[in-house]
Amino acid sequence: MRLVFAAICIISTCCAASLHAQTVYHEMYRPQVHFSPREKWTNDPNGMVYYNGVYHLFFQYYPDSTVWGPMHWGHATSKDLVHWQQQPVALFPDSLGYIFSGSAVVDKNNTSGFGKNGQPPLVAIFTHHDPNGEKAGRNNFQNQSLAYSVDNGKTWTKYAGNPVLKNPGITDFRDPKVSWYEPEKKWIMTLATKDRITFYSSPDLKGWTKESEFGKELGAHGGVWECPDLFTLEDNGKKVWVLIVNLNPGGPNGGSATQYFMGDFNGNKFTPADSATRWLDYGPDEYAGITWSNTGNRKLFLGWMSNWQYANVVPTTTWRNAMTVPRELTIKQAGTSRYIASTPVAELNAIRLNPVAWQNIRVQNTFEVGTKASKIVLPGRLDLNLEKPNDFAVILANDAGEELEIGYDSKQQQYYIDRSRSGKVDFQKDFAGRAVAPRLRKTGSMDLKLVIDVSSVELFADDGITVMTSIFFPSKPFDHIRLRSPGGTTFKKILYTDYMGIW
Ligand code: FRU
Repeated sequence: MRLVFAAICIISTCCAASLHAQTVYHEMYRPQVHFSPREKWTNDPNGMVYYNGVYHLFFQYYPDSTVWGPMHWGHATSKDLVHWQQQPVALFPDSLGYIFSGSAVVDKNNTSGFGKNGQPPLVAIFTHHDPNGEKAGRNNFQNQSLAYSVDNGKTWTKYAGNPVLKNPGITDFRDPKVSWYEPEKKWIMTLATKDRITFYSSPDLKGWTKESEFGKELGAHGGVWECPDLFTLEDNGKKVWVLIVNLNPGGPNGGSATQYFMGDFNGNKFTPADSATRWLDYGPDEYAGITWSNTGNRKLFLGWMSNWQYANVVPTTTWRNAMTVPRELTIKQAGTSRYIASTPVAELNAIRLNPVAWQNIRVQNTFEVGTKASKIVLPGRLDLNLEKPNDFAVILANDAGEELEIGYDSKQQQYYIDRSRSGKVDFQKDFAGRAVAPRLRKTGSMDLKLVIDVSSVELFADDGITVMTSIFFPSKPFDHIRLRSPGGTTFKKILYTDYMGIW
C-alpha cells in the first residue's frame, strides 16, 4: 500500500513538474517580471494611455502565429505597471489594411465628438497599412486612422471617416504619436515619414494640417525613422521638449534602437538645442519605445525588448517577444551635457524580496552573489556601488558552462554586455557578440542597477544615464551571479533581491 502510494507520488510530482514547465507564462525563457503576450507574436508597444487608474498597453500583435504577420492591436491592462492582464484584441485588420503602430489619448474636451453622456472618449490614432497597395508597388499604402472607446478602453469602434490623414506619396508614413498642445489648444501629431519627422496639427483629431518637418540632416540615419514621441520633461524648473525617434536599422550596436533629441517646440516647429545624437538605450534589445499619455508630471517609457535583426527567430516556443520594464524618465547632468536618464519604475520595488547585502567588499577574482548555497533563482535585481571603477564584470552562469557577461572596461570607459557564450546564439548571425555603451558620467562614484529576468537583462548605469538592454537564451537557467575582477575592484555596496514573479 505504502509503496503504491509512494509510486503515485513520484509519478504525480514528475507529471506536475513537467506540466508546470508547459503552463502558460512558465515556459522556458518566459519573462517573469516583464509583459509578454500569453501566446503568439508581438512587436511594438502601442496606444499607451493611463485612464481612470488603469495603465493600458496595446501592442503589435499577430494572434495566428509566432512570426510577424497581419497586424492587430493586442491589449493588456495593469493597475500597478507590474502585473498585467491580457484583454481581448482591441483592433483587427480591415479593408483599409493592417493595424500598425500608433498612440491613444484621453480626449478630455471631447474635441472629436466621440464622447457619450458627458464621458470623454479614449481615441486611438494608428496607421492603416494596406498590404495590397504595398504589393502593387504604390507609394501611398500607409495612412492614419482613428478608433474610439467610450467604455474605458474595453471595446473600440473604428471611425467611419477613416483614414483621417492621407498619404501624400511617402512609402514610410506611419506611427502617429498624438498629444495635446495646451498653449494653442490643438492636437499635435508627430509622424515618422521615412528619413524625418513631420508634425501635423488638428483641432478635433479628424482634420490634420502639416506644420513642419524635422531631422533630415540630424541624428542617426542608418535606416528608416519609426515610432516617434514628443513630450516635455522638467529640468531645474524649466520645460525641455524631448523628441524620441526610433530607427531601424542603424542602432549603436546594430539593428533597431531608440535615439532622442532635446530642444524646444512652439506648436509649429521642433528646434534642437544641439546637434548631438543621443541614445535612450544602447543595448541591442530595446526598440519602438515611447511614453504613456495622461500620466501628469511623471513620464513613463516602455519599449519592445527585441531587435528586428532576429525577433522572428528567437528560440521561444508558444510566444515571441516581450516588453522592457516600464521606466521613469528624467533629465540628468553628465559632464557639460544633459541627458535623459531612465529608472525602473518604483512600483517594481513592491515585488522585491529576500534582500542580501554586502558592504566594502574587495573582489579580487570572483565573488558569489548567490543566496542559497551560492545559487539564485531568477528573476532578481542587483544593485552595485563602486567608488573607483576598475575593470569588472557581473557574470550570469549555469553549470552547463554558459555565461552572460555584463561589465565595465575602464580603459575604453565603456559598459558592455557580452552574450557570445550565453547559450543558444546561432539562430541568427548577428545575435552572438558584445554590445558596448559609453560611460557618459565619467566622474564620481559608479552605480549600477540590473533588472535580471530569466532571458533578459536591463542595465541602468550612473543614475540611469547609460542604459543597455539585452536578451539571452541559456540551455539551462542561469542560477549563479558572480562578480569578477582579475585586477581587483572594491564594491562599496552590493545588494541583491529576488523578484516575485508576476504571473
Ligand atoms: C516598428 C514598426 C513600425 C510599424 C510596425 C509594424 O517596429 O516597423 O514602424 O508600424 O512595426 O508592425
